[in-house]
Amino acid sequence: MGKRLVFVCQNVDCRVRKATETMELLKKELTGDESIEVRPYMCFGACHEGPNVVIYPDKAWFAHVKPELVHDVVAYLKGGVAPKELDTIDPGLKDMIFQLLDAGLY
Ligand code: FES
Repeated sequence: MGKRLVFVCQNVDCRVRKATETMELLKKELTGDESIEVRPYMCFGACHEGPNVVIYPDKAWFAHVKPELVHDVVAYLKGGVAPKELDTIDPGLKDMIFQLLDAGLY
């Protein structure tokens, strides 16, 4: 099985909400786990709900992932439950982004 990819949006709206810090913390917390790779993403189109984190191929999307909420995402990645309160994105938009990722556009 390939790696699980953790995409963290790094476009302007997410960045002003500390998406870079969120991404760096995720990288730090997941260091040493060869099954997971954290990568920047250009924009998921849910800019007002950032920082946005999309996990593939799980097809999990967590919004509003401020640095202090990174531990919830890490817990999920390590086998815990998905933080439902961060699952706020419109299902139609999710489908569109997941189709792009399925098509290899990342
Ligand atoms: S700026 Fe992050 S989703 Fe658009």
